[in-house]
Order: sequence, then C-alpha cells, then structure tokens
Amino acid sequence: MTEQKVVIITGASSGMGEASAKLFLKRGWIVYAGARRVERMAELEEQGAHVVALDVTKPESNQNFVAQVVDEQGRI
Ligand SMILES: NC(=O)c1ccc[n+]([C@@H]2O[C@H](COP(=O)([O-])OP(=O)(O)OC[C@H]3O[C@@H](n4cnc5c(N)ncnc54)[C@H](OP(=O)(O)O)[C@@H]3O)[C@@H](O)[C@H]2O)c1
Repeated sequence: MTEQKVVIITGASSGMGEASAKLFLKRGWIVYAGARRVERMAELEEQGAHVVALDVTKPESNQNFVAQVVDEQGRI
C-alpha cells in the first residue's frame, strides 16, 4: 500500500489555499492547514484537516509549524 501523503498548506483560510486543502483532503492526504484566521478554517477542520495558527512573516511561526508536522507525522 502507498504511504499516505502529508502536505502543508499556508494561506488555507481562503482562496487558493483553502481550495487546495479541500482537494488534498478529498484525495485522502493528511493536510496541515495554516493561516492567521484560525476561525475561518473551522470547515476544513470538520473535514479532517489539522488546523494551525500561522503567520508566515514570523520565522518562529514557520519553524513551529514545520516542527509540529514532523513531530506528529515524521514526514512532509
Ligand atoms: N486567485 C488566483 O487565481 C491567483 C492566481 C495566481 C496567483 N495568485 C496569488 O496567490 C496568492 C493567494 O491568492 P488567493 O486568491 O488565494 O488570496 P486570498 O483569498 O486573499 O488568500 C490569502 C491567504 O493567505 C493568508 N495569509 C495572508 N497573510 C498571511 C500571513 N502573514 N501568514 C499566514 N497566512 C497569511 C490568508 O490567511 P489569513 O489572513 O487568515 O492569515 C489567506 O488564507 C496571492 O498572492 C495571489 O496574488 C492568485
């Protein structure tokens, strides 16, 4: 069996990021969705995404996001 893929999507609270997150969820991937407006990702969370507060302008925020995924899934 093929290993389930793990993807990080930034800007997942609207637009192309949200659409991409939904597409990957439909395909059975493990999706980590990041954006500042966490409340706007409630629907993604209901659909199975791991929702994370992220501000890509803050290096520490990016590092924490990646570290969380590697910690929980062992890969990206
Ligand atoms: N739509 C298109 O057809 C298209 C085509 C080509 C290129 N693009 C480009 O692709 C990008 C996205 O387009 P879009 O239409 O999907 O825009 P959008 O609907 O405005 O989405 C922008 C996303 O980026 C997130 N974001 C903004 N600042 C952030 C920050 N500091 N940290 C984390 N997330 C942040 C927003 O989330 P929060 O505000 O919740 O953080 C939101 O989820 C834009 O740069 C656009 O110019 C779009």
